[in-house]
Amino acid sequence: LQEEGDRVPRARFGRRGCVLRKIFEDSVQEIKDFDVREDDVWVVTPPKCGTTWAQEMVWLLVHDLDYKTAKEQNLMMRFPYMEFSRFITEKTRKEYLKGLDTVQHAASLTPPRCIKSHLPKDLLPDQIWTKKPKIIYVAREPKDTAVSFFYHNQLLSDYRGDKEFFFECFYEDIVGYAPFWEHMLDFWQLKDEPHILFNTYEEMKKDLPSVIRRTAKFLGKNLTEEQILRLAEHLDFKQMKANPSVNIEEKLSKMREEGKITEEQAFIRKGVVGEGRREMSPEMAARFDERTRRVFNEAVGGCPWKI
Ligand code: A3P
Repeated sequence: LQEEGDRVPRARFGRRGCVLRKIFEDSVQEIKDFDVREDDVWVVTPPKCGTTWAQEMVWLLVHDLDYKTAKEQNLMMRFPYMEFSRFITEKTRKEYLKGLDTVQHAASLTPPRCIKSHLPKDLLPDQIWTKKPKIIYVAREPKDTAVSFFYHNQLLSDYRGDKEFFFECFYEDIVGYAPFWEHMLDFWQLKDEPHILFNTYEEMKKDLPSVIRRTAKFLGKNLTEEQILRLAEHLDFKQMKANPSVNIEEKLSKMREEGKITEEQAFIRKGVVGEGRREMSPEMAARFDERTRRVFNEAVGGCPWKI
């Protein structure tokens, strides 16, 4: 799999054998020992499930709809991707994060801290399960997630391989953060815990105001209908795509100037449901669906999607 991650060695971590760059082994314990606060708010998702979308929603809810700061400050600063600087190259850290240490930054945020992680359940800080901060989890239908991840790897990891081959790698659990199904299953099984809210990308697409309402309630925030609609408008795909505080425009415009990506390629890319069925061969789509049914319906008698 020819992506940046493959030019550096990878390894498997934790109970589920989560695929991450090998260098992450130096930081597993540090992350496990991270001091969690009860008033933290975490957004935990596998990559490409609508993390950024959920982060912007959650940050604004937690910070009483402070649109001004949301506009002025980059999401990475407001809502750091905790483990990120522990496995990227020094070059990426300098260029993309301007040298930021994301673990330290997350730790030093003014409470209530908003922290993002893509780590699976068993690699998250131990205190998550004792301090029980609020966690908003977002899952996305696996075929669509794989398609989104394919374009993400083309954009940011220099993947030039075949699309169907990428899906095969996704299915075989050798892409970053795989296995995705089990990541989602572990939180699906925790969905009734009072400190966990399990949302899906598909629900956000279908009825964003309802998801905002539910998430606000979970966070103990009272919003008027007008405030909910204004937030939904702010979170609308077109607005998010044009919002430099969330669309990593600074990095992408540099890549465009250097001729590394085309004008059309974007981080906030298409934002639709059901692309998996169009982009995958029918055989691959059937394999994905079979696994989704096996992991969810057959193993635990429930599934976030109708497959
Ligand atoms: P696509 O690649 O399918 O377009 P993440 O933030 O976890 O990396 O997820 C990225 C995915 O969420 C991308 O999916 C992106 O376009 C989509 N997304 C981001 N903001 C969105 C929004 N406001 N509405 C719908 N989809 C959005």
